[in-house]
Amino acid sequence: MTEEKNIALTLDRIRQLESDHVLQTYARFPVLMVRGNGNNLYDETGKSYLDFISGIGVNVLGHNHPLVRRILREQGDMIHISNLYYHPYQGELAERLTVASGMSRVFYANTGTESVEGALKLARAWQRRRGRDKKTEFVSLLNSFHGRTMGSLSVTAQTKYRQPFEPLIPGVRFIDPNQCEDDFAAARAAINENTAAVIIETIQGEGGVHPINDYFLNVVRQACDEVDALLILDEVQSGLGRTGKVFAFENTQVRPDVLCVAKPLGLGVPLGAFIVNERAADGLQPGDHGTTFGGGPLACRLSLALMELLLDQALMQRVAEVGTFFRKKLRRLQRSHPGIISDVRGLGLMVGAELSFPGRSVVTKMLERGFLLNCTHDTVLRFLPPYLIKKTEINTMLTHLEEVLVEEAAEQKS
Ligand SMILES: Cc1ncc(COP(=O)(O)O)c(C=O)c1O
Repeated sequence: MTEEKNIALTLDRIRQLESDHVLQTYARFPVLMVRGNGNNLYDETGKSYLDFISGIGVNVLGHNHPLVRRILREQGDMIHISNLYYHPYQGELAERLTVASGMSRVFYANTGTESVEGALKLARAWQRRRGRDKKTEFVSLLNSFHGRTMGSLSVTAQTKYRQPFEPLIPGVRFIDPNQCEDDFAAARAAINENTAAVIIETIQGEGGVHPINDYFLNVVRQACDEVDALLILDEVQSGLGRTGKVFAFENTQVRPDVLCVAKPLGLGVPLGAFIVNERAADGLQPGDHGTTFGGGPLACRLSLALMELLLDQALMQRVAEVGTFFRKKLRRLQRSHPGIISDVRGLGLMVGAELSFPGRSVVTKMLERGFLLNCTHDTVLRFLPPYLIKKTEINTMLTHLEEVLVEEAAEQKS
């Protein structure tokens, strides 16, 4: 692909068409991206944008990666075949995912929300197979986000996502993952004889980049074991190398019964999966669950390439090390401008900086300067850069961010 890529329509025309014909569910920034290369996207004028969001955690190898280009070319003759037949890549990918996670079996979906949906269904069916018809409830965390379908939304705590669609699935309890004894007691009480499963993001993403405390996870694991409920970890955002480990739970002592992954799994082609351990593996029987697209040959082949890269210790060490560097730099910024950044959180290259004011206009100003970042939970700047982001690129971005934050803080005061 070259600079001369010909885009027939102007940004104004595209905006008009979308405004007339696309359901207006997104508040897009007024920028027209036409190509990508490495850690950069380019708009139709040729302006470059350094990518610190990776399509919300998807493009972990950046854009236009030679490996991805090669697979797209080679697999172009058989992109999809349905799940009626075998193709060469599903089984091998499942082997890699199960070996890497220490688990047993995989179901392929297409998105994060579908992987959560399937995991919830599996938990219900698993309990029912054991004659526990009343064990249908779910326990989730305050501040959680698990997706937009009815099931995944039902275990999503954030009101703004739920409210227009209520009533949702009944029997969902939300517990506070903070660290005081009261919270542990509440968790133990909420996880009871009616609980089918507990679902937790190992690191909460949309909720503002909050790693879940290891001790809390242990309490939940123990409570699940006591009442024979499944523990589902949702690593749609935090899994697959984002934290510097293949799976985020490897940073903790806890092991899930069901693990949800998606986002980078197909290296930009939609692919999600839930992975189950031996204990949960008989939850779904032939005909219980399915999908037309899930686990197609192109997506699985790309995913095999991803898994091979993630098993490379050097890449994972790099993610961990560059992530630590990034947070250290942000903390330095926090110290030199007290009152602007109130907290810096995250693990590996899943990084959050909590501001003391709303962050949307910071994101807009950074976009104007050629940097793509994202604000979640109103006040948290979220960074999910490609795993190949360079320290020099982080430094450049932070130099601009400092100027924008100082400017924005002054405007907030006036
Ligand atoms: C933790 C988590 N679970 C589920 C989802 C839903 O994934 P998708 O948007 O692919 O449906 C997301 C998306 O951001 C997520 O962060």
